[in-house]
Parts: sequence; structure tokens; C-alpha cells
Amino acid sequence: MKIGVVGLGYVGLVTAAVLANHDNEVIGIDVSTERVNKLNSNNLPIFEPELGNRIESAGSRLKFSTDYSDLAECSGVFICVPTPNNEAGIDLSFVVAASKEVSKVVPKSELIIKSTVTPGTARHISNLTGMNVTSNPEFTREGSAVYDTEHPDRIVVGGNDPQVCKDVWKFTNAPTIITTNENAELIKYASNAFLATKITFINQMADLCEKIPGADVKIVAHGIGLDHRIGKEFLKPGLGYGGSCFPKDTIALNSYANSKDVKLDIIDSVIRYNSDRINQLVEKIIRLAGDLNDRNICVLGLSFKDNTDDLRESRSIALIENLSKRGAKIFAYDPIVKQYPGIVQCNSSEECIMKCSIVITATEWEEFRSIDPVLFKDKMVFDLRRILSIKPDDITMGVGIGKD
Ligand code: UDX
Repeated sequence: MKIGVVGLGYVGLVTAAVLANHDNEVIGIDVSTERVNKLNSNNLPIFEPELGNRIESAGSRLKFSTDYSDLAECSGVFICVPTPNNEAGIDLSFVVAASKEVSKVVPKSELIIKSTVTPGTARHISNLTGMNVTSNPEFTREGSAVYDTEHPDRIVVGGNDPQVCKDVWKFTNAPTIITTNENAELIKYASNAFLATKITFINQMADLCEKIPGADVKIVAHGIGLDHRIGKEFLKPGLGYGGSCFPKDTIALNSYANSKDVKLDIIDSVIRYNSDRINQLVEKIIRLAGDLNDRNICVLGLSFKDNTDDLRESRSIALIENLSKRGAKIFAYDPIVKQYPGIVQCNSSEECIMKCSIVITATEWEEFRSIDPVLFKDKMVFDLRRILSIKPDDITMGVGIGKD
């Protein structure tokens, strides 16, 4: 099948590359000439494991262009453009603009919306363009997006005639939910809101554990996660959730519900707790380490999570901004992100630790697990990601995770 993908970011580029490896001829469209030129000269605009391999193995079955007319003869076109929030709620202008462009070239093809959109959007786009619109939300995590796209837990397809969408994902053999556009749209928001709630729950349990001698939230998380009704995923305490989806989607769901006169108390409280979490953590660091003015602080990890270069809504960056405002001098090391303004960038975690009296783990990069604990001698260590091989109460190494 000939398939189009509009928007070559973290979602669209992975979708295009994976589909081109499964019997499709794929044309990827992006408004950014710079991005398309990069892709056409075999340079990846983002870091995502396995993506380069998939683009290479797709060969001539995958092409990139800025020209919508190259979508001619596509049976289906995926819309993978951003849906940021604005003051009024979700900003659908990119989805609307892209859909209108597609409808000018291939009005009879299936328009498949992968972007996260509030319920009713697909219907609205169908009315605007006259196209057959299918909703097909993505559930991929950055850092494992290729794997997740090829091995999804489920495929959600909403619409009246979603044949193309059903066909292209058949190779995954995943359970497929065929439903209305509105259900598909809401499944995406409900999934992300639930996962954000789970993370917030375990962060609150971590707050409690830190007040109880002998309590360790990692063991508590393990203990509850083995109950299959709860599940062990997304129970890692840390700096709160960040990234391009959870913060945006919880806020969008909340304001959408408000517009329907429904109050989502749980989500409301999750959003408030998460946005206050960095400040709470910094207050705690000050309680334990004292005034931060002129102190050298080593921050390990800059990206919003491991295995990505994405800094959008990175909790590490929010932490750095908060610490800097309090006069701290920030030294940072990240395995992939090598530039960020206002900080001293180090070439290794060792170099970064050696230059500072306070060490904070801010992103869960695998390599931080094997940092030699000897390096932490006489340092105050705040293992906010709980990944170091020091014990929470090990006072010889400093403060451990920071019991109050
Ligand atoms: C998320 C969803 O998982 C995915 O299904 C959706 O399509 C897009 O949004 P992503 O944002 O790429 O994916 O990363 P994810 O692994 O979900 O992590 C989101 C945030 O939660 C990160 O800041 C991460 O550090 C944090 N997190 C995650 C925790 O603090 N604890 C956890 O146990 C899991």
C-alpha cells in the first residue's frame, strides 16, 4: 500500500519507518525543509534507538518531502503533528491545517489521526474536509518507540470505515479495538492520565516512606506491583512525570472535562502535585544540605527520560532552573544531550561528581547505575531516581536518597 505520514517528529518518523519495513511504500511529509533535508541526506533529526536501522532497511520504500502533492495515490495518510495546549485548551491548528492540505491532494483516501486530540476532533475534521477520518492513537514511549510500534499491547482504531488503518497494523498481531472515533480519542487520554496518576501515587508513597525509619519505597513498589491488579510498571518514584505527553495530556483532559461541566478531581490533584514536586524536592535538599547559594551541584542526566535526547518538559531542566534561581552553580552530564545554556557541561559523570559537593540523579540513564560508590565519599547525594548502588540510609556516603 502507498501510505503517507504528515509530521516527522518522534511519532511520525517512527511510524513511517516501521510501516516502510512492512510492505508499504511510505512518503513522509514535514513543513520543515531543514528536517526533510537532513533525512534525505541520511542524518537523523532526533535520537531514538533502532530508528536509524529501520530507515536504512526501508531503503527506497521510504521517502521524505515537504510537498503535499507527493501524497498522490496514498490509500491512507497518518496525521502526526503536534497538539500543544494554549490558554483556551488544546490547540488543533496544526492538525486542521495538515488535514486540509491532505484533503486537497487525496480527498478519497483514509485520513488517520495519530496526534493526541480531544474527543470530537475526528468528527470535526471529517466535516471540515469531507474525508473518511479514522482515529488511531499511539501509545509509544520515547526511547523504545520503535519496539513499542512493532510490539504494541493493543491497536486502537476508531471510525466508520477504518480499513486501511486496520490493514497496516495487522503485522503486529496485537489485539485490535475497533470502535467509535470518540472512544479511540478518549482511550488515549484516559491511558496517559491513569499512568500519570500511578506515578503520582508512588511519589506520594515515597514522601511517606522517607518519614518512616526502615521504610523503602522501592520495596513497597515491588510489593504492591506483584499484585496483577496493580502491575509493576510505572511505579518508579522520581522527580514527577515529564516529557511531551503526560503534562500536556493531563491538562488537556482536565480542561476538556471542565468544558463538559465534569470535574476530574483525581487528575486535578495529580497535575497540582506534579507541578509542585520539583519545588518540594529542592526544599528538601535545602533542609538537608543547607543554603545552596554558590554551591556546586552535579546533576546527572538532562533529558526527560533515558534513551532520548528530548528535553521537552524535562524534570531535570525544571530542577536545574529551580536550583539556579537559588544561586547554585550547576555542573551537568548527560550521555546524549551535550548542550544546555547556563550550566557547565561535563564529559563524564565522574568529572561532574568530582567538581561538586552535592550530587543529584535526575534522569534514569542505565550507565549511572554502575557509578563507583567510592566517588560519593564526602558528597551529599540525592538519588532522586533511586538508581545508584548506595543504600538509602548509608550515611558514610552522604545523605543517600535524603531521609528527612
Ligand atoms: C508516554 C506514554 O507512556 C506513551 O504511551 C504515550 O504515547 C506518550 O507518553 P513518554 O512520555 O515517551 O510516553 O515516556 P514514559 O516512559 O511514559 O515516561 C513519562 C514520564 O514519566 C517521564 O518523565 C518518566 O521519567 C516518568 N516516569 C515514568 C516516572 O517518573 N516513573 C515511572 O514509573 C514511569
